[in-house]
Amino acid sequence: MAIDFDHIVRDALAALGAATDSAALDAWRGTHLGKSAPVMSALGTLGTLPKEERREFGQRANQARQALEQAFEAAAERARAAELERAITAGAIDVTLPGRALARGRLHPAVQTLRRIYAIFAEMGFQVYRSRDVETDEYNFTLLNIPPHHPAREMWDTFYTTTPNVILRTHTSPGQIHVMRERAPEPIRVILPGMCYRYEQITARSEIQFYQVEGLAIGRHITMADLKGTLTAFAHALFGPNVRTRFRSDHFPFTEPSAEMDVECFVCDGAGCPVCKQSGWLEILGCGMVHPVVLENGGYDPREFSGFAFGMGPQRITMLMHKIEDIRYFFANDLRFLEQF
Ligand code: FA5
Repeated sequence: MAIDFDHIVRDALAALGAATDSAALDAWRGTHLGKSAPVMSALGTLGTLPKEERREFGQRANQARQALEQAFEAAAERARAAELERAITAGAIDVTLPGRALARGRLHPAVQTLRRIYAIFAEMGFQVYRSRDVETDEYNFTLLNIPPHHPAREMWDTFYTTTPNVILRTHTSPGQIHVMRERAPEPIRVILPGMCYRYEQITARSEIQFYQVEGLAIGRHITMADLKGTLTAFAHALFGPNVRTRFRSDHFPFTEPSAEMDVECFVCDGAGCPVCKQSGWLEILGCGMVHPVVLENGGYDPREFSGFAFGMGPQRITMLMHKIEDIRYFFANDLRFLEQF
């Protein structure tokens, strides 16, 4: 049988030249390499040929098919490259345009104050000690020299849980017992930051959940002078080197003697204003010498060891520093408030 394979290939390649996109290429493949394409039909007739013609016919038919397949692959590759080029050009980026600034988060104002407090105490050699938010009644009260039914418990309105004697800590002071029991009889210099919880009326000054930073120093010769020196140096670092401080006598069951520390009002420089309620002073923390009963509960012999402790509310301090009039702003998540810091 005489089939002009050269002619078939020439015709097919001419048609391929006109097919430039993938749809046209698919159609071309169906026509020229599909089941009923001339080359394929010719190959199908191979078995009907006289034996002596089959070899040569088969070779010519296969060469023609391979030529078409190779030409098709090359054309398909060219079409893909052209399509990619078109897509890149259509979505072109002008690299000379100014970029769009990314929105950046920032630290919460209470966290900013916390970090300043950590840094100031770190310079004085105080480590950060983390203790648990969920406490037992024993650690939160009894071991801090506040036995069951003691009237001092009324200073801390407590959230109880459904498990007997398990409560949310009302202050960071139970951490004092944890760190003492862990480290006795070694000296201690730590601050204990964390959340506290009180079943209180929420007001502009009081939240039911708030931060405290506790401090504890235990050693063989620690005196009230160390307490006053440390806390005065802290106030100077936080509020400025010229701020005046004073200690007023107070009462906490776990310290003896106990005091509250005030700094001179930095809004009116002590002259008297609404922020300091005309007193000229702002209260910033409670403190005192660790009570002998608490030292003993922590594993230290009070005849050999002494120490001081203090507890402050960083949110109340932040309120004073930035004249924030309502503590509820801290957790309201209002960007108009947060973006000011
Ligand atoms: C205490 O909780 C003592 N544990 C502090 C202490 C520690 C004294 C070690 C002596 C030795 P007080 O209840 O005053 O004390 O709370 C300490 C600080 O926590 C307050 O000065 C205040 O800044 C903050 N604070 C207390 N209650 C709230 C509240 N509801 N919302 C926000 N801050 C509060």
